[in-house]
Formats: sequence, C-alpha cells, structure tokens
Amino acid sequence: MTGKILRVDHLGIAVKDPRQRLGTWNELLGLELERAEAVPSEGVRTWFLDAGGTHLELLEPLGEDGPIAKYLEKRGEGIHHLCLEVDDIEAVLARLAAKGVEPLPPGVRKGAGNCTVAFLHPKQTGGVLLELSQKPVKTAAPPTQPFTAGEVVVLYLREPRGRVFGLLRSREADGIAIEGLDLDAWEDWLSQWSRGEDAPLSPSLQFFPAARIEKLLADRDAPSLPSLGRQFSERTGRELAAVLAGPQD
Ligand code: CO
Repeated sequence: MTGKILRVDHLGIAVKDPRQRLGTWNELLGLELERAEAVPSEGVRTWFLDAGGTHLELLEPLGEDGPIAKYLEKRGEGIHHLCLEVDDIEAVLARLAAKGVEPLPPGVRKGAGNCTVAFLHPKQTGGVLLELSQKPVKTAAPPTQPFTAGEVVVLYLREPRGRVFGLLRSREADGIAIEGLDLDAWEDWLSQWSRGEDAPLSPSLQFFPAARIEKLLADRDAPSLPSLGRQFSERTGRELAAVLAGPQD
C-alpha cells in the first residue's frame, strides 16, 4: 500500500536567533549541524541538526512577514511543527481528502531539501501543525559506459602485437568483438573508398579474448591527430561507422 507514514522526520523549532540556538542544540547538547538552507517561499532559513536520524529544523525568519516571523511575534520561540515522512504524499492527501481533511493552502509544494511537503492545520490534528514530507526521488547517476556497442574503436593487442580498428560489437568480461580491419590496412582501405573502388577490403567480425587485449581506445580527435572517423569523412564524404556496419545497417 502506498500513502504510508514512514517515520518522524523532524521537529520544526521557531528561533529568533539561530546562532544563539545553535549554542543550545549544537554546542551544549552536541547535535551536529548538517546543513542550512534558505527557503524563500516560506520566508525562512532552516538549520538542520541531526538527532540520530531524526532531525531538528531550526526555523529562522527571513524578514518580518513570513509565517515564522508571525509565529514568533505571537507565541515566541518553541516547537513549531512536527514533520512525518511519507512514501507518497499524493496518496496520503487523497486519503485525507476522502475524509474531508484538506492541507493548508497552497497545498503541495517544495520544501527544504527539495522534499515535497504539505501542512495540516493544528485544528485538524488536535493542536499540532503537521508537515507531511516526501523525500525527492534519488536519481542514480547513469552508469558510466565508456564504450558503447556501435562506436568506432581502436584495439591494441599483445602476443602477437597488433592494432585493429572497427565497430565495437560487444564488450564482455571474456573479450571484445569488433567488426573491423587491421589498422595497418587503414591507408589502403581509405584509399580504396576515396577512389570509389568497387571491392574494398571488407571488414570482418572478429573476437579478441581478454588475455590478448592491451587497451581499447575510443576513436576521438586528438590535438595532433584527427580521428579515423574524421579522416574518413573528409576523404570520402561518408560516415565511417555506417560504412563499417555494412549496407544492411
Ligand atoms: Co519542516
């Protein structure tokens, strides 16, 4: 089921002077300050202190018109709100709406830490301003793919030594498959193509076991040496990768 309450995420505490209150929570009690973040839309700067996974969020008013400034004026310093982390805020709010409970305007919004948050008025909870918060989805960094099938590469081999250029067809733990030619044949092959000859040397699909592989290079322009792909297209007006792939591709 989605729309679950996961945990107490933090307690929001309204403070007049964060430096003074950091003296209480950080210096006196030893809670570590994790981050400070301005949330201009709420008129506050938040100071997050770690209390064993649950946090204290010190709320410092920015300016005199925000909700925290007003709260301090009316009630003084102290606990301002309780925040519960939820797995799916829309699902929670839909369930609440079905029972006639609506969040405070403007409803769902971005809060500190890029969380999606909504507040319930203390009238609806028996005196507790309640923040519901859903953590942002962590987008995993895309896996680094230094080589992708279909790109032009140059493979250096040992025992016997050699160099092969061609299209990378697959790259596995046990070896590399390349559709290409010996790099020593490059000039001849290039000349044949640039003269438009009918039957140029044909690339073939070859498998090289991992034990023979010294290094694999992507075919990129170097400062003093244009890539094979660039040399090929300048001489023939064609795309090297497409030619290597053959007419069927
Ligand atoms: Co909060």
